Amino acid sequence: MKAVVLSNWGGVENFAVQEVPKPTIQPDEVLVHVKAFGVNPADFKTRSGVAPYSKAYTHPIILGWDMAGEVVEVGSGVTTFTVGDAVYGMVNFPKPGQAYAQYVAAPAAHLALKPAKLSFEEASAAPLAVLTAWQALTEHGQLKSGEKVLVQAASGGVGHLGVQLAKALGAYVIGTASGKNEEFVRSLGADEFIDYTKTSIEESVSEVDLVFDTAGADTIFASANVLKPAGRLISIAYGDMDKVLAVRPDIHAERILVHTSGDDLRTINEFIDEGKLKISVSEVLPANQIADVHQKLESRRTTGKIVLTF
Ligand SMILES: NC(=O)c1ccc[n+]([C@@H]2O[C@H](COP(=O)([O-])OP(=O)(O)OC[C@H]3O[C@@H](n4cnc5c(N)ncnc54)[C@H](OP(=O)(O)O)[C@@H]3O)[C@@H](O)[C@H]2O)c1
Repeated sequence: MKAVVLSNWGGVENFAVQEVPKPTIQPDEVLVHVKAFGVNPADFKTRSGVAPYSKAYTHPIILGWDMAGEVVEVGSGVTTFTVGDAVYGMVNFPKPGQAYAQYVAAPAAHLALKPAKLSFEEASAAPLAVLTAWQALTEHGQLKSGEKVLVQAASGGVGHLGVQLAKALGAYVIGTASGKNEEFVRSLGADEFIDYTKTSIEESVSEVDLVFDTAGADTIFASANVLKPAGRLISIAYGDMDKVLAVRPDIHAERILVHTSGDDLRTINEFIDEGKLKISVSEVLPANQIADVHQKLESRRTTGKIVLTF
């Protein structure tokens, strides 16, 4: 099969599309013929070697966690999927998922059936980002209907799903991005939009119940300052919460790491089936353009998600 192989830590010059052996499966796994695979900022952090979990990898590496495809082989212990099922999932995160490939060996517990409403490209774009948004808002953020939510970086891969899920859960949603993304963020259902390049968040928002921070260090203190007393700050992009709590000791501030879950994907599928959650794919590119795609991701200026195909 073909795969995108990374020969060393560092830049995108270390990527090459190569012929490699097809993976073999364990009893709890299925073999998926990948129709499309997704990318995330965690991919470039792992590629360069700065992600804490990079240490678990040895070269040559096949990166990638997000993929969608068709089951072609089922492990002896798997009862949940059969050959021919269309599936999607985030495979083995943060260990090597090896999704930049034509075939992936995936634990059945990490997968769900692909919603019929999603193309393979849309489904491959979703898992890491949508699991992150779901777990941030519900498991950690304990979002309740009627609450006011601020989603920082509402136009990004995670943020655009966070806006829609928060709306679907009954929240009043404020989204931030630069002006070029206003129409997009409002189309997701945001009640208010703030262009962070023009307007101070602290001067325009207050009394927020929950901030879902996907932007990180540049905005973390503004995120804390707009919260109500006892408000919740859930960040996926900033780790030093002691500094935040020194300024706002009266809030709950937490940095989270997404965990893989086929069960969460099945819950999320209900929102997709009901038309309450759409996956925005800005580009579908061939796998041999992985270097360009990583550079785009590193710019932090992409809207929605990018996916690749062989
Ligand atoms: N901890 C976890 O489990 C976890 C999971 C997923 C992602 N993450 C991390 O979370 C971050 C976001 O991930 P992602 O996939 O959503 O990233 P992304 O798609 O690359 O985000 C890009 C978007 O961020 C917006 N943006 C950049 N700076 C901003 C700012 N200061 N204020 C408001 N918007 C801003 C950009 O909008 P403009 O172009 O309009 O500025 C752009 O649309 C990354 O650092 C990623 O590694 C962590």
